[in-house]
Amino acid sequence: MTSRAWWKESVVYQIYPRSFQDSTGSGVGDLNGIRSRLDHLEQLGIDVIWLSPVYDSPNDDNGYDIRAYDKIMKEFGTMKDWEQLLEDIHGRGMRLVMDLVVNHSSDEHAWFAESRSSMDNKYRDYYIWRDGRNGGPPNNWGSVFGGSAWEYDTQTASYYLHLFSRKQPDLNWENEGLRQDIYKMMTRWLDKGVDGFRMDVINFISKAPGLPDGPRQEKDPYGDGSPFFMNGPRIHEHLQEMHENVLRHYDIMTVGEMPGVNEEQAVAYTKEENNELNMVFQFEHMDLDAGPGGKWDLRPCPMPVLRSNLTKWQKALEHEGWNSLYWNNHDQPRVVSRFGNDAAFRKTSAKMLALLLHMMKGTPFIYQGEEIGMTNVQFEEIADYQDIETINMYNEQRRNGVPHEELMHRIYTKGRDNARTPMQWDSSKHAGFTEGTPWLKVNPNYPEINAAEAMEDQDSIFYFYQQLIRLRHEMDIIVYGSFDLLFQDHPEVFCYERRFAGEVLQVYCSFSTDPLHLEVEPVGERLIGNYGEAPGLKSGHLALRPFEAAAYYLKS
Ligand code: NOJ
Repeated sequence: MTSRAWWKESVVYQIYPRSFQDSTGSGVGDLNGIRSRLDHLEQLGIDVIWLSPVYDSPNDDNGYDIRAYDKIMKEFGTMKDWEQLLEDIHGRGMRLVMDLVVNHSSDEHAWFAESRSSMDNKYRDYYIWRDGRNGGPPNNWGSVFGGSAWEYDTQTASYYLHLFSRKQPDLNWENEGLRQDIYKMMTRWLDKGVDGFRMDVINFISKAPGLPDGPRQEKDPYGDGSPFFMNGPRIHEHLQEMHENVLRHYDIMTVGEMPGVNEEQAVAYTKEENNELNMVFQFEHMDLDAGPGGKWDLRPCPMPVLRSNLTKWQKALEHEGWNSLYWNNHDQPRVVSRFGNDAAFRKTSAKMLALLLHMMKGTPFIYQGEEIGMTNVQFEEIADYQDIETINMYNEQRRNGVPHEELMHRIYTKGRDNARTPMQWDSSKHAGFTEGTPWLKVNPNYPEINAAEAMEDQDSIFYFYQQLIRLRHEMDIIVYGSFDLLFQDHPEVFCYERRFAGEVLQVYCSFSTDPLHLEVEPVGERLIGNYGEAPGLKSGHLALRPFEAAAYYLKS
């Protein structure tokens, strides 16, 4: 059996601080704002808060470009405010996981200022510098945010690598001094009492020697460098060294964000004897609605495709390693708009998706606003968008002649600002998020969809999440039980069975807008469901209503 651990039994809630709660009227969320909303999280029942970056940053990528790892971003408050926040969180019996962004820093970080200043500076080698090739960049890699992954710097007449924006130069993990400085910085935060790290694109830190050109698609001016920087040659060595130097000395939770990771690699990153990480964020289920052209190449994702992918991950990490479970984060569109129905069945389908995910094996992550069924947003003007990835894509594709309407459709479907519109607290101006002008507009549906409304409604999505979290805390089968798919060829239902120590849990979820029947006699009693009454059951037929979800439990 899988060994027990608190982080396997926990439910995590992600806060994107910029959009959670403003306490000063600046229009930007802040630490004291978060403190003022801890009741909401305690009532929901979550165990751990993961805070997206709150470090000093020029905000080219909303804090994922860090200028000083030991300072708090001025807009968010002071170190004292952060310490108070940590104390408040601990005081309520919850834990705090910080974001760790060490694949790159900001170009305004002191290390980079030193590094770019001369070829023989002590910090030169903290970043990845190369000479140009034939009057252009050193290789053909494109940046994740568009354009070349290389920026020419006149001071030393050479190029530095930036897999993200040009203000996010990649750190050079080949350099021993850099690695030791990172470990010391992590130790300082752990000694302050943080309970773990979510590690930003941590599987990008080891680049293949020689930085070879990547494969290039016909119309793309840039090559895909990912085979040479994702899960690179020294990644396990670096993580084991980090574990040895830092992680093993603390009782913490670690989750590595890992685009492009497959299930065998995930096992290697997370199995206990490898001494690396507790779990990873994989992205396969987030990429199923994208074509070969990447995230903006929109494709429908039929439910069976989603089902077989999630099932594959459940089975692959069943005995070794551990899964994270998530539908949403600050980079993804809202799940109820993506895989549910955010119109007529918003509440029912949001609850169905919640039940489907929270009854699986792994540690569930809830992203702010998911617990009240927040939806994607459609702003008319590109000027209303703030996200660097979205804006770069729009400008680049407009130059390529793609019509405005087509680009807005892509942004409505996949843009990161869908997740970043301010948290909808109540029906007052700007949804109670700020008394000033919000940095990103509030979704206009806030008068109907907000936390105050959810508190009033006993049948709300919020209380459904609360119930799911409570059940996970009470029942070992939800945390540790085995997983097996039921009805694996059905076009419209996602059903599975969990087993643990003689207990059985069966989960039935419909993705259909129409009623349907399953030939099945579920075991035991309905434990939880998203309709007031349990589904109809007559001589071996279970009648599921639109987007119905029900879990049945039997203790032998
Ligand atoms: C992944 C983060 O989640 C995303 O928001 C960020 O833009 C990139 N890594 C770069 O740090």
